[in-house]
Amino acid sequence: MTTTGTASSLDRLRVEVVGSAPLPPLTGERYALTHAAYEAASDQRALLQGWLAHALPPLLAGCDPVRVVGVGVGDGSVDAPLARALSEGGRQVRYLGVEPHAPSAMGFAGRLAALHVDTLIPSVVIGDFADHDAGHPADLVHFVHSLYYVDDLGAALDHALSMVRPGGLLVAATAPLEPLCVLTELLCPWGEHRPWFAHDVRAELDLRRLEVHAETLVGRLDVTEVLIDPCGRGEAVFDFLVGARTAAMSAPVREHVLDYLRAIGGPEVPHPLDIMIARVP
Ligand SMILES: C[S@@+](CC[C@H](N)C(=O)[O-])C[C@H]1O[C@@H](n2cnc3c(N)ncnc32)[C@H](O)[C@@H]1O
Repeated sequence: MTTTGTASSLDRLRVEVVGSAPLPPLTGERYALTHAAYEAASDQRALLQGWLAHALPPLLAGCDPVRVVGVGVGDGSVDAPLARALSEGGRQVRYLGVEPHAPSAMGFAGRLAALHVDTLIPSVVIGDFADHDAGHPADLVHFVHSLYYVDDLGAALDHALSMVRPGGLLVAATAPLEPLCVLTELLCPWGEHRPWFAHDVRAELDLRRLEVHAETLVGRLDVTEVLIDPCGRGEAVFDFLVGARTAAMSAPVREHVLDYLRAIGGPEVPHPLDIMIARVP
């Protein structure tokens, strides 16, 4: 479909959404479960795992031990390949994950322990990043798909920057507000809080006059099952995509969302990720 077709499909959806009740939010358990289903339907995860494992180790050459803080690590599925790559050649790695959802945090700890790398020491803090105090300066603090959720983006970045040693790296991997995330922004019950996307992160980093290197990973999300069976086999991916329980969605809103997904390229929709890397002066 053309850009005009996409815009009019989105306009129709916006009109339908006005006046409809907000959707119920995902519980922590539902969030973790649907997140796994969503990533399994996309090739972005494999691209990101490869990027983390190959791009970051050379940028951290000379750090031994290397100290990493991952913020919002979920079940550690992107951290494990990075931890393994960093510990190659017998390098000592101290890898801390900060994660508020306890079962996911346990998944992170288990995944890193299962690497059975003697020189890797993983640890985990169950809680909000805002309450975390790093203790020792880190060589790398990263946010992978987690900055959307912080209350105060500037405060979160300042907090992270205060943890990075001079010469160390701050890495933020955040989706741009492009067609797929437009849906999340529109339909997710964000409450008082507004979500932060890649352009917000870039603006905050620029405000701090940091030199930023940016890359985009161009993934694709397969929404075939959402289009065919949104209330059945496609429900988990649909829930995470919208960020809410889609079972409560009215039939007209659902039809407009599915039309919009077709308009933006469904069943294979663009699923980009912007990565920003700032070296701390
Ligand atoms: C989309 S998941 C990403 C998980 C993991 N980084 C990955 O890519 O698989 C976002 C994660 O951020 C966590 N999160 C949300 N708010 C947070 C906060 N204030 N501090 C730390 N983590 C947070 C969530 O619990 C969730 O596990």
